[in-house]
Amino acid sequence: MTHINKTEPYNKVFSSDNTAGAAAQVMQAMLEAATGPQPPYGMDEYSQRVEQKLATLFECELSVFLVSTGTAANALGLSVLTPPWGAVLCHPDSHVNNDECGAPEFFTNGAKLISVEGENSKICSQNLAKIAAKKAGDVHSVQASVVSISQSTEVGSLYSLEEIQAIGNVCQDHGLRLHMDGARFANALVAMECSAADMTWKAGVDVLSFGATKNGVLAAEAIVLFDQSLAQEMAFRRKRAGHLLSKMRLLAAQMDAYLSHDLWLNNARQANQMCERLDHGLEAIVEIEIQGQTQSNILFCKMPRSVIDGLLAQGFHFYSDRWDKNVVRLVTNFTTQAADVDHFVAAVKQLAEAH
Ligand SMILES: Cc1ncc(COP(=O)(O)O)c(C=O)c1O
Repeated sequence: MTHINKTEPYNKVFSSDNTAGAAAQVMQAMLEAATGPQPPYGMDEYSQRVEQKLATLFECELSVFLVSTGTAANALGLSVLTPPWGAVLCHPDSHVNNDECGAPEFFTNGAKLISVEGENSKICSQNLAKIAAKKAGDVHSVQASVVSISQSTEVGSLYSLEEIQAIGNVCQDHGLRLHMDGARFANALVAMECSAADMTWKAGVDVLSFGATKNGVLAAEAIVLFDQSLAQEMAFRRKRAGHLLSKMRLLAAQMDAYLSHDLWLNNARQANQMCERLDHGLEAIVEIEIQGQTQSNILFCKMPRSVIDGLLAQGFHFYSDRWDKNVVRLVTNFTTQAADVDHFVAAVKQLAEAH
């Protein structure tokens, strides 16, 4: 990837929502949390407040374990839901399957990841039902034990409440647990305009990786346990994994600020709205073919090669050709502004006309 030029008048970075910095409120909260004494190892006032805020948000009693990466949240979350001889059923496109360097297998002591196909990077509940029943009780095979879904998905698609419920029902029928990778939970929630409870435990989710890093914090993710009987095991597992920070206040203060004054929801709305603006702008250019439906903050489109090359030469950042030839992925985030989008669309238009 080329160097990001910070002196550019426009933000030209559409490669990932990981490229954004942190919100000012989060940085301010970290500074304040660094002043004065606090009890260590998660007994600080910020950690207590985060748990209360998440309990209010999800309208239930729950246990919260903060960690510093999404990979840790997913891998540790899965580790309390499966025995080593279990299988984690996930979509082939999922982050747990593709982008975590075997951490789910490592932290579960060797549980096997098994792919379940479905359109738009979403597990299809009918396919799931077939695989869930396979070789149950056969001592020669790993035993399906947990399903992992991403909301929103790695391509920005969304499971409807009915789709989550259908997966939850399969889990219940087959005695499986349900994990949700919510690295982009906020983007999904504001797009769906539903309650956090409906999208999770009410549909059968046992453990949620509640992401924040992509949407305004510097580094903090929450493992949310809706089944509190898993809490003691999680406490030991997080410590063994090296994610029990002595100064946990630095993660907790970030999450506390993130959950205050609707910062997390406003940030996600900004990212989603900018993606919608991008979608409308590109849709109007005949040479550009939007792929699928844009539902949150990620958009895929097909562009002529000369346009892709021209944009890269002008210093725009995005990934292309990873999914298909001349297919580009564009990701907006909470710092993306309308002017950034319009500037990008204008550049595409100019290059497309010259094509
Ligand atoms: C769907 C999904 N889950 C989890 C993560 C978290 O990954 P990391 O360990 O880099 O924080 C990401 C980040 O790209 C993601 O896209």
